[in-house]
Amino acid sequence: MDKFVINGGKPLSGTVMIGGAKNASLALMPATILANGIYHLHNTPDLRDILTMGRLLETMGVGVSLVDQTLTIDTKTMNSYEAPYEHVKQMRASIYVLGPLVARFGQAKVSLPGGCAWGPRPVNLHIEGIRKLGAEIELDAGYIIAKAKRLSGTRILFDVSSVGATGNVMMAAVLAKGTTLIENAAQEPEMVQLSEFLVKMGAKIHGIGTGRLEIEGVDELHPADVTTISDRIEAGTFLIAGAMAGKKGGMIRLEKCNQHHMGALIVKLEDIGAKIRTGADWIELTPPEKIYAVNATTAIYPGFPTDMQAQWIALMSLAQGTSIVKDTVYFDRFTHVPELIRLGANITLKENVATVIGVKKLTGAKVMSTDLRASASLILAGLVAEGTTEVLRVYHIDRGYESVEKKLQALGADILREKGEEF
Ligand code: UD1
Repeated sequence: MDKFVINGGKPLSGTVMIGGAKNASLALMPATILANGIYHLHNTPDLRDILTMGRLLETMGVGVSLVDQTLTIDTKTMNSYEAPYEHVKQMRASIYVLGPLVARFGQAKVSLPGGCAWGPRPVNLHIEGIRKLGAEIELDAGYIIAKAKRLSGTRILFDVSSVGATGNVMMAAVLAKGTTLIENAAQEPEMVQLSEFLVKMGAKIHGIGTGRLEIEGVDELHPADVTTISDRIEAGTFLIAGAMAGKKGGMIRLEKCNQHHMGALIVKLEDIGAKIRTGADWIELTPPEKIYAVNATTAIYPGFPTDMQAQWIALMSLAQGTSIVKDTVYFDRFTHVPELIRLGANITLKENVATVIGVKKLTGAKVMSTDLRASASLILAGLVAEGTTEVLRVYHIDRGYESVEKKLQALGADILREKGEEF
């Protein structure tokens, strides 16, 4: 397993190109199941999760190839409606195939995802929503078995606003007979893009970008092409890297990004003392003289993203004063905390609330990455820690950050990918 070896304390400055949004691609790819033909998904990032979704589609007979950030998907040869455990266990987003399979083929066999590195992550809302659309669903030997002649429109209220359940139910409802109302739908930019893609394929969706989606089912959809939006979490992670590197470095400029998707983070970065300038598809950050301690509470979009919580804690570790970081979306998502403490951070965790007392410096150590965003926070900390930090098990980072070490090297970081020890 690869590891990153980081010699911390190097000044960072320069320009980073931001890639396509992983979480948008992971929703767009299964949507192609809904119509027969060939699709081109431009600006698709070359990431392990995209490969996993591609392999899953291939097991169903779909043709998938990624060349120069364009993902070509051919659904004409599709011949299976099953998502096996071997694939789903690698990536929970595999469950996205459930809605499209039932809607188009009237049948699906999709493995239940099981647990996750940071605790239980239920899929009850996906199942209840698709059941309410008229599918017969039973759970058998770890699989969701769904059958339906044709789904029919209904009213659905999500008790919790869920990105995945919104995407899954929306993809099922577009081919249902009649109109479906989804109340408390997720409004994340990735869901807006999925809705717009479905509309391009011939779906009728009203209320896009709001919490109330009205979907008039149609008999048939057709293939379409799309350019994936930029990854707001990758962009945010690089902004935090710049903020943490401090005045020694200089300005960090992100290109091919969308500031409108990053409002909450931009406000918080200004609150810590960073200067931010934005343009149509770029953001520049000038790091603060000193990092002010700023609280953050995660919330659904447009609130502060849970996917930035770990990186924010890394930043707050070096702030002047004490900050409170609370995760209200995933209560257990704090596996980075003990590892950051190994690097010298002063963090106390009580349930879903981390109290971070800023320290003067972090010191290099061996740390273990446990999930995608936790890995990002450890790299951020390693970049400023005194001495050498080894971040083990970096395969997690490859799920969601394309060539992260190369992009950081281009900014001046001393970070190398090496073969790590096996566990
Ligand atoms: C997506 C993102 C993930 C991000 C998360 C929250 C993808 C591939 N992943 O995950 O990076 O951290 O949104 O922004 O897009 N819930 C239920 N029942 C369900 C489904 C969800 O109770 O059936 C709860 C979850 O436990 C959580 C909340 O809803 O507390 C939000 O989760 P959700 O939006 O569904 O996350 P994902 O779609 O899995």
